[in-house]
Amino acid sequence: MDVAGAGKSLAGSSTTDDRLPELKSFDDSKAGVKGLVDSDITRLPRIFIMPPEDLTAAGEPPQIQFRIPLINLEGVARQRADVIAGVRDAAETVGFFQVVNHGIPVKLLEEMVAAAREFHELPQELKAEYYTRELMKKVKYVSNFDLYQSKHANWRDTLFCVMGPEPLDPQELPAVCRDVTVEYSREVQALGKLLFELLSEALGLKPEHLERMDCAKGHTILSHYYPTCPEPELTMGTTRHCDPDFLTILLQDHIGGLQVLSYGQWVDVPPVPGALVVNIGDRLQLISNDRFKSVEHRVLANHRGPRVSVACFFTLHLYPTTRMYGLIKELLLEENPPVYRETLLKDFIAYYDNKGLDGKSALAHFRLQQ
Ligand code: OGA
Ligand code: NI
Repeated sequence: MDVAGAGKSLAGSSTTDDRLPELKSFDDSKAGVKGLVDSDITRLPRIFIMPPEDLTAAGEPPQIQFRIPLINLEGVARQRADVIAGVRDAAETVGFFQVVNHGIPVKLLEEMVAAAREFHELPQELKAEYYTRELMKKVKYVSNFDLYQSKHANWRDTLFCVMGPEPLDPQELPAVCRDVTVEYSREVQALGKLLFELLSEALGLKPEHLERMDCAKGHTILSHYYPTCPEPELTMGTTRHCDPDFLTILLQDHIGGLQVLSYGQWVDVPPVPGALVVNIGDRLQLISNDRFKSVEHRVLANHRGPRVSVACFFTLHLYPTTRMYGLIKELLLEENPPVYRETLLKDFIAYYDNKGLDGKSALAHFRLQQ
């Protein structure tokens, strides 16, 4: 399979029409980026090649020394106010923090990463059964959810599992990662509830406030696989983006490559054994009226792969809620008028998914005229 005319350097010059047959051939293979790597390609197929301006400073070390805050949740019982202050500071500035002593056994984290990897390394014909772009499917494997929307494909495959609010029948999950995904889902849900309590308090609200707004009610688990890349300097594992959910809890393996845009610099989010990365999503920025920041991040492609990460998105994907989300009423003050219009979750998700990862903010679309 000559996928995407490997080696032709047409970066930035290809029109959508021009790329379509290559995108389709890649998609129809149902083998993802992993399939390309297995076919021993040595050059990057051109559908993945990004122009230099979209790759700004990839691989360059940041010029400022900046560390993503690390929060020890062991202190929640005894030093709750300190923990909340740390969470507030991170949520209001960098939008990212890592948590340790979060209560999820490290062994389970390791098993989750291993199971995600096993899924992506299954024989192609077994994985292909799960490959689909059907919107309503709760369990699906797909490479680049925005393959046909975005200008450049990413060097990444993903297994999506919508775990709630409606309970997922475990039989729908691939057998290689079934039990561990169910267990991880239960644990990460409990951690999510705790984080929403702390975030509520950080906003000066009652601990249960965000949970009562259904922020913790549902989550989707995305197991990402970033294969070894033959020309990592020409593409991205994940294009710069903000997350469309309320909150994300990310488990990453030891490879690294996740970066967050902080004060104009791409800053590494270094792998910390046993830690989980937490970041504010667009919808928490929306309901907090820009107090909490949903910050752009990206994943570099690399020679050292594969890299595995497991993202838990707190969202109500596929759940037919009619609740409107806008500024939390208790935060409404004369000097704090609403920045965004009230929005149905499904409208936000549809807008985000249609747009794809294009480096632009989805939130901007919901901003009221000032
Ligand atoms: C995401 C994401 C980062 C990673 O799933 O939105 O940013 O390290 N993932 O895979
Ligand atoms: Ni993200």
